[in-house]
Amino acid sequence: MGKLLATLLLASLSWGADPDWWRSAVIYEIYPRSFADTNGDGIGDLNGITAHLDYLKELGVDAIWLTPFYPSPQVDFGYDISDYKAIDRQYGTMADFDRLVKEATKRGIKVVNDMVLNHTSDQHPWFKESKSSRKNKKADWYVWVNADAKGNPPNNWQSIFGHSAWQWNETRKQFYYHAFYKEQPDLNFRNRAVRDAMYDTMRFWLDKGVAGFRLDAVPSLFEDPQLRDEPYVDGVDAYGERKVSKQYTDNLPEVHEVLRELRQVTNEYPGRVLIGETYLPNAAELLKMYGKNQDELHLPMDMQLGFLNRLSVADFRIKLQEAETQLNGNVPLFAFDNHDNTRSVDRYGDGVHNDAIQRLLATVLLTPRASALMYYGEELGMVTSTPTRVEDVRDPIGRIGWPKEKGRDGERTPMQWNNDANAGFGSASKPWLPVGENYKTVNVASESKDPGSLLNYYKRLIKLRKENEQLRDGDFVMTNETNDKVLSYLRLSRDGKAVLVALNFTAEPQAVNIDGATHGVKGRHLKTLLASFTCGDHEEMSHVALPAFGSYIGQVEP
Ligand code: GLC
Repeated sequence: MGKLLATLLLASLSWGADPDWWRSAVIYEIYPRSFADTNGDGIGDLNGITAHLDYLKELGVDAIWLTPFYPSPQVDFGYDISDYKAIDRQYGTMADFDRLVKEATKRGIKVVNDMVLNHTSDQHPWFKESKSSRKNKKADWYVWVNADAKGNPPNNWQSIFGHSAWQWNETRKQFYYHAFYKEQPDLNFRNRAVRDAMYDTMRFWLDKGVAGFRLDAVPSLFEDPQLRDEPYVDGVDAYGERKVSKQYTDNLPEVHEVLRELRQVTNEYPGRVLIGETYLPNAAELLKMYGKNQDELHLPMDMQLGFLNRLSVADFRIKLQEAETQLNGNVPLFAFDNHDNTRSVDRYGDGVHNDAIQRLLATVLLTPRASALMYYGEELGMVTSTPTRVEDVRDPIGRIGWPKEKGRDGERTPMQWNNDANAGFGSASKPWLPVGENYKTVNVASESKDPGSLLNYYKRLIKLRKENEQLRDGDFVMTNETNDKVLSYLRLSRDGKAVLVALNFTAEPQAVNIDGATHGVKGRHLKTLLASFTCGDHEEMSHVALPAFGSYIGQVEP
């Protein structure tokens, strides 16, 4: 008990200082399986994260989001949870977790857990009970329906991970719904007892001092009670099925009712945050996720910018501008990378200027008025290492969808710590996934020593973002809005002080004359704060010269 109190005290002290920490936070996603292995079994663990907290502190992150480490059959590597209040043995023990939170808190780093509400593992005791008969206490905890007259599933709904979303159960002689793998049956969120059970698990972790949750797959929480067929849309998916729309299974209005309840639970604990996994097509949809009275998610992820997948000034400008002007003043949360997608360098890179492009993306991520999500290894320049043979694939969708869908192993390869065998990930001769090929040069040890490395660029950028008043608190104002080669914007204080960010989106050198006066900016000179290329300590607003994909940040001076 004394230990728990000490943890709580530490935690409340750090939040007491700034309960709104999440408004300008840098949140670093860790895939525990792939971060650092301390017991030599080839799989990363919680102690591996604790061992590297000093690295994360030096990088400057405010919080770490850990993808699921709860007991799980690991069909979806932890997103199939069989016990919400324990730690999977392969990742460690509850004592390890408590130590991680304590050590992180000491260093001013908050720990955000992943919370998977939509589904459990089919090995969870709730599902085992639910499937045992049509009449048991948990009979309605999942989404069960009868077959149609011919014995077929009730409709054409498709799993996000391929093929029908309905799985037959012989005991109940019914189908159950699974938005993801068949081993991930969807919970029935129309059932009050299900909601309360989930809120209870959240309180369990909040009591332990976690800073909040990244809510997995929230748009999928509800399905149409009338079970209407989805309309077909053009094309065939990676699994060879006709594509269907998701209007009856995605983003139903009831989702917001649950988000409000989740927020109420979170509000019982000051300074805690709800982050949502929200792939949404536009600002209007995103705005809904914050709630009409700002009573839903604190930070729904804005995945639009990060997944445009083309370096178009016009598109970036529109998305940044919409996030600034159409979210009702709420804080956007940008991300370019995560454990479900090809790494951004492979989506935005041109193969020739990748290093400069990575710095450009880092700058766009970390300089607008927004919170930022990073993914482990992004700061080093880790690339996607997609398996080349189906027999090597670990992520089941890569086997279900091969060769069109090769799965998500490529973006989950071990963190690259140094140039020893297996990049210093651990002592096992074979980590659970092979280490990325570029680890000899792209790793923490080498890049720490090199002042010009990508890692040091990220460090300087994060430090600047914290220390510079305009980058921290200033308004966001777009400049030179007709230029289609250079994206530029200002961070502006009320007193007219400003920081300029200018980014060359082309492979040719560009020069721009920045128009600050119309925005009330005082001064025509620039003091360089950070640039991805060699330039002078001072530059002029009238002539900001940028090499191919160059990024420049400067303080405007009289
Ligand atoms: C989310 C996770 C993904 C997982 C899925 C099902 O999209 O990010 O990794 O497979 O939910 O839980």
